Amino acid sequence: MHGMLRSMLFVPADSERKLAKGAAGAADALVLDLEDSVVPERRPFARGLVRAYLDGRGASPRQQTWVRVNPLDTPESLADLAAVIGGAPDGILLPKTRTADDAVRLGHYLTALEQRDGVTLGATRIIAVSTETPMGVLTLQGFAGSTPRLAGLTWGAEDLPAAIGASTNRDDSGEFAFTYRLARSLCLLAAHAAGVQAIDTVATDFRDPEGLKREVRAARREGFTGKLAIHPDQVDPINAGFTPDEEELRHAQAVIDAFAANPGAGTIQLDGKMLDRPHLTQAQRVLAMRR
Ligand code: COA
Ligand code: MG
Repeated sequence: MHGMLRSMLFVPADSERKLAKGAAGAADALVLDLEDSVVPERRPFARGLVRAYLDGRGASPRQQTWVRVNPLDTPESLADLAAVIGGAPDGILLPKTRTADDAVRLGHYLTALEQRDGVTLGATRIIAVSTETPMGVLTLQGFAGSTPRLAGLTWGAEDLPAAIGASTNRDDSGEFAFTYRLARSLCLLAAHAAGVQAIDTVATDFRDPEGLKREVRAARREGFTGKLAIHPDQVDPINAGFTPDEEELRHAQAVIDAFAANPGAGTIQLDGKMLDRPHLTQAQRVLAMRR
């Protein structure tokens, strides 16, 4: 994988002001949005802005730049791609996928456009927003082995309700209703089955830092390694939440050292607790998230 993305900040691609603010911030990646946050009449302008932004980046930018294009079943998506690929974005965030075939098809489009525009073939990665359609949720396993461009899967809880005639995505207690928790868990498992990053969905209440921290903690505990953001204030808590602290790093190193000191032993003890292979794997994962 080419750099773990902890925070991906959506920026409406028709807003120069937000683009500048996002670029000055600490998000690991910006996601310049050409889909729902831009009205159709502004899309041609937004595409031009995205391309100019990409062309203006330095040789080794400290932040990745991704573009959310329109869904493949709309005529807008090819126009989006044709306008931006020559600027060599790090990747494309593909919304409302119906099956993994959408990611495969996007991969073919990217190959053609990379060839046309002199961009390294295969360089443009893909992250799918994989739970926004009913068929998407039901076919998540298809992403495993689908395209080598795939870098991650994320999920959305805002479009699925509309697609299935649900008036809300919440239950009586205010938590995500079962259907959306199911979609989230399936996305998590599908990402790991595909060997790509599992990225948690947005917290829409951007004035609730405590709620965000809780969401990030829960997401990381469960195996997500990043989260989408919609507001600059969300970036620092997300980055911090997906960065192991000193204590975690020390413990992970101790686990690795303990196994290294006992080659040939499948199960060992550390401070009176049993450790076996899964603990070693987890310790290696923690060290891989080190900054
Ligand atoms: N990226 C970059 N800058 C952003 C930003 C974003 N996503 N959201 C807000 N800002 C900037 C604002 O422009 C403002 O900058 P300023 O002080 O220079 O004027 C500052 O951060 C504070 O913003 P605030 O007043 O708190 O919010 P707002 O009313 O300007 O914007 C939203 C609120 C929700 C409209 C805005 O956060 C947004 O556009 N988010 C992304 C939406 C999106 O892309 N959705 C699609 C994916 S779900
Ligand atoms: Mg949406």
